[in-house]
Amino acid sequence: MAATQGRVETALARYLPAADSIPARLHDAMRYSALGGGKRVRPLLAFAAGELTGAPAEKLEVVAGAVEMIHAYSLVHDDLPCMDDDDLRRGRPTCHVEYDEATALLVGDSLQTQAFELLATQALGEPKQQLEMIALLAHASGSRGMAGGQAIDLASVGKPLTQPELELMHALKTGALIRAAVLLGALCGEPLSTEARDNLDRFAKRAGLLFQVVDDILDCTASTATLGKTAGKDEAADKPTYVSLLGLERARSYAEELRSDALASLSCFGERASRLTQLADFICHRQF
Ligand code: IPE
Ligand code: IPE
Ligand code: MG
Ligand code: MG
Ligand code: MG
Repeated sequence: MAATQGRVETALARYLPAADSIPARLHDAMRYSALGGGKRVRPLLAFAAGELTGAPAEKLEVVAGAVEMIHAYSLVHDDLPCMDDDDLRRGRPTCHVEYDEATALLVGDSLQTQAFELLATQALGEPKQQLEMIALLAHASGSRGMAGGQAIDLASVGKPLTQPELELMHALKTGALIRAAVLLGALCGEPLSTEARDNLDRFAKRAGLLFQVVDDILDCTASTATLGKTAGKDEAADKPTYVSLLGLERARSYAEELRSDALASLSCFGERASRLTQLADFICHRQF
């Protein structure tokens, strides 16, 4: 994990505009928001999925970098006063606190477009396949993916959701990008059979939902110091979460259920899926 995280950090540092290039304040804020922190779970998933298809590391760096840029943008906007209004992220002041709100808005805009510029300018495969990869990330990021999930999240404050409604919100706001990371990683290598791709897709969807269920649990069980972001925000902001819906114990057992469901989808891959298996365990049992 550490080796891949280091590799992705170096690649991101290379892909992002230099901090002193004009407009320097924006570029500095982009680097502040994307570098030097984060678990890099989405890149790790892309690299692990790439092991199923023999994908070369140079291509995996590109898709991992693009997904992580979208993720970093989503966090910068998620923390804005008009959204979750958070002042701590990855143990540091959030982008709008360190810089200002307008800069944070532009950091999100710029990281998003930088991600697509990266995907469009690096050789990832045949042109048709590369366009499909770009479309996949676009769909996962937009109103039928992450941004749509964020819209449901904001519209749901103070409202109790049913479990299917909550599942849809989580699948979109967090699951979509995690699923994209897995599928894009696999697409960097040799084609999978339809059956294998369906199994991988099922794994990716379960892992994405699992990730947000655990995020909900950690928000009310871990400390601010451990999380590097303010704990207890969901309850304070009256957000519907798996903990508010099911209670802590049932949310925990639901997480275990999702984990075993995710792992079951990997059985057809045998040993080649060992890193994906480890990551599902990590996503389920992480402390931050
Ligand atoms: C936090 O994501 C936001 C969610 C989608 C739950 P991560 O927990 O992956 O954040 P970093 O990248 O490690 O900081
Ligand atoms: C964030 O969900 C989802 C996205 C950023 C798309 P949360 O609002 O729960 O994430 P944290 O807890 O602030 O990291
Ligand atoms: Mg949020
Ligand atoms: Mg938030
Ligand atoms: Mg959260």
